[in-house]
Amino acid sequence: MPFKHSPDPRLGAAAHPGGSAPSEWVRRFAALLPEGARVLDLAAGGGRHARWLAGRGCKVMAVDRDAAALATMQGVAGVETRVLDLEGPDWPLGGQQFDAVVVANYLYRPRFAELFELVRPGGLLIYETFMLGNERFGKPSNPDFLLRPCELLACLPEGWSVVAFEQGEVGRPAMIQRLCASRSAVPGRLPSLI
Ligand SMILES: C[S@@+](CC[C@H](N)C(=O)[O-])C[C@H]1O[C@@H](n2cnc3c(N)ncnc32)[C@H](O)[C@@H]1O
Repeated sequence: MPFKHSPDPRLGAAAHPGGSAPSEWVRRFAALLPEGARVLDLAAGGGRHARWLAGRGCKVMAVDRDAAALATMQGVAGVETRVLDLEGPDWPLGGQQFDAVVVANYLYRPRFAELFELVRPGGLLIYETFMLGNERFGKPSNPDFLLRPCELLACLPEGWSVVAFEQGEVGRPAMIQRLCASRSAVPGRLPSLI
């Protein structure tokens, strides 16, 4: 049965332009994760990625402030949910690390440093969200929620390697930026192109 939840109102109707299907970017790079990998789905919403990742053998922690959205994942094998405010004065995920962190359609710049720390050495960050220029197409249009050109690349800390990066217009239409990076100075494996 398809799941439903209320998308982030600040993103408007474009919040989930791909519907409940997992992003192809996330799917492509999740292929690098071994069975049993511990993955954090940050600002998971209704869990389109958490569900898909759990379905391929990952142990997923899905976090969001929206308890109702997380509740739709109750009973999904391999998914643990936690209702957290990721933008409050206290960072609720301090000291935790994961084999991979997935962020889709969410941006909160003041916690970028903490976000990178969530990835264990050798682990992966898979990120996809809207960028400047998206305001031509609708929401999100607030620059606070839109990446600047190459911003994900520019804020990558030392000791990380870019696995893949792209930005531009996609057919929804929307302006999107995508990064996959590993917390390793040495480039590692690439997934297949298809
Ligand atoms: C557009 S949805 C994206 C959901 C999911 N990542 C996806 O791509 O399907 C943005 C999510 O960010 C969550 N969010 C916004 N502000 C938050 C906050 N301060 N703390 C935790 N989650 C937040 C919303 O509740 C919403 O589920």
